[in-house]
Parts: sequence; structure tokens; C-alpha cells
Amino acid sequence: MAQRTLACTACHGKEGRAGPDGYYPRIAGKPAGYLYNQLLNFRDGRRHYGLMSRLLDPLSEPYMLEIAQYFAALDLPYAQPTAAPASAALQQQGRLLTVQGDPKRRIPACAQCHGETLTGVQPNTPGLVGLPRDYIASQLGAWRTGQRRAHAPDCMAEIAQRLTPGDITAVATWLAAQVPVPGSKPAAALPRPPEMACGSATLPAGRQTP
Ligand code: HEC
Ligand code: HEC
Repeated sequence: MAQRTLACTACHGKEGRAGPDGYYPRIAGKPAGYLYNQLLNFRDGRRHYGLMSRLLDPLSEPYMLEIAQYFAALDLPYAQPTAAPASAALQQQGRLLTVQGDPKRRIPACAQCHGETLTGVQPNTPGLVGLPRDYIASQLGAWRTGQRRAHAPDCMAEIAQRLTPGDITAVATWLAAQVPVPGSKPAAALPRPPEMACGSATLPAGRQTP
């Protein structure tokens, strides 16, 4: 599979570990169901990156699932964060949104779905630590404008629409400054069901788990 995914790692970095700016995001170690959903999102036009979508077009769904499983199983250390200068108030705003949300504005805590340690949850929720600030901010911005979409119900689109541009700067800045716990992996399950449902692709016939 390492051979067959050389076209992918040309952009995504050796073994899918990404470059420091996150323009080509890390794919190694993210939950398999999340990666599989993204491959379908690019193929089906819910996310846009022409050069990549063209590579995905001819692939069958079972093969895409194999690629997702291959990258999900790679266990590589995360790069250390490069903290951006931020005022104490901005950091506090980012931390509060992440761990508590803002019930008055119906913004659920990010940790409710992304896991208490923010390292993601199997099978479909990615971690939020170890990602560069610009990548986080641009993904949330893309959801607000409809440029990025996920399988229905698209919980992240609703959440991003409730965030102001200032909230996005705050969460992206705070999250990108958190040091990922060494060896941290997506959690097996959530302690309690989240207050919103999030969609996911139907798995290829005969598969029960991604
Ligand atoms: C020409 C460069 C390029 C190639 C080749 C490429 N990608 Fe990508 N990929 C990108 C970019 C850029 C993004 C982020 C786009 C965005 O911001 O939404 C991305 C996003 C992704 C994501 C979503 C990551 C996330 O965390 O949400 C996955 C999964 C992915 N690529 C897998 C692959 C696989 C598998 C291949 C090989 C079949 C591949 N890519 C080939 C550039 C590339
Ligand atoms: C109700 C559950 C839920 C909540 C609450 C939630 N998320 Fe998410 N988030 C998800 C799921 C599921 C995905 C994967 C969506 C997909 O398939 O594209 C995701 C994806 C993301 C991504 C994309 C990561 C990547 O690698 O591309 C970012 C960034 C993100 N969420 C940030 C946040 C922030 C910030 C908050 C809090 C303000 C938040 N999320 C709250 C469920 C949630």
C-alpha cells in the first residue's frame, strides 16, 4: 500500500505526516471512518481540490476504504505546535468554546464530540490537536460558506455558522497551541452521546466497521 499511495504522499508528506503549514493536511493516524468519508467528500464534490479529486475518481469504494484503513493505522508522532502570539483574552475565549461551548448561542463544546483529550473519536471524528492554526481556521471558514460540506446531517456546518470570525480565530489559535500527548490516539467511544447528530457515508456492502 505504501507503493500504491506514492501519488498521495507526494503532496501529503512521507507516510502522510504533512508539512508544518498544514496546506497539505496530515492524514496519518486519523480515524479510518473519517478518512473514508473525506475521500467520498472530495470525489462527490462536498470538498474541493481538483488535483486530488481526479486521482480518486477511478477508485472503487472498497479500495478507498483500504486506503483510509492504511493511513489510519500509521502511528507517527505529531509535530510540536508553533504557538502564535495571542492575548490572554483570545486564548481564554478559545479554551472556553472548546471545553464548554456557549449554550446561549447554542454552540456545543468541541470536546463533546472530538473527545475530552481532543484526539478524536472512532470511527468518524478527527482530532483537533496537532493541526496548524491556518488549517483549522480555513476549514471552519469553508464550512461557514458552504465550500466544505460533510455527509448529512452536517453538524459541523451548523456549528461553524454559529461561530463568529472572532470565535474561529480564538478556537484555531488555542487549539493549535496545545501540545498533543505523546502516543495520543482517537478514543474508542464517547462517554455520552453528543447533543447533535453527525452524518457519515454508508460503508461498502459487507463491511460493518470502517
Ligand atoms: C496535488 C496534491 C494532492 C494529492 C496528489 C493528494 N492530495 Fe489529499 N489533499 C490535498 C489538499 C490540498 C487537501 C486539503 C484540501 C482542503 O483544504 O480541503 C487534501 C485533503 C485530503 C484529505 C482530508 C484530510 C482531512 O484531515 O480532512 C484526505 C483524507 C486526503 N487528502 C487523502 C488523499 C489520498 C488518499 C490521496 C491519494 C489517492 C491524496 N489525498 C492525494 C492535496 C493532495
Ligand atoms: C456534534 C459533534 C461535534 C461537535 C460539537 C464539534 N465537532 Fe468538529 N467535527 C465533528 C465531525 C463528525 C467531524 C468530521 C466531519 C466530516 O466528516 O467532514 C468534525 C470535523 C471538524 C474539523 C475538521 C478537521 C480536519 O482534520 O479537517 C474541525 C476543524 C472541527 N471539527 C472543529 C470543531 C470545533 C472548533 C468545534 C467546537 C466549536 C467542533 N468541531 C465541535 C463533530 C463535531
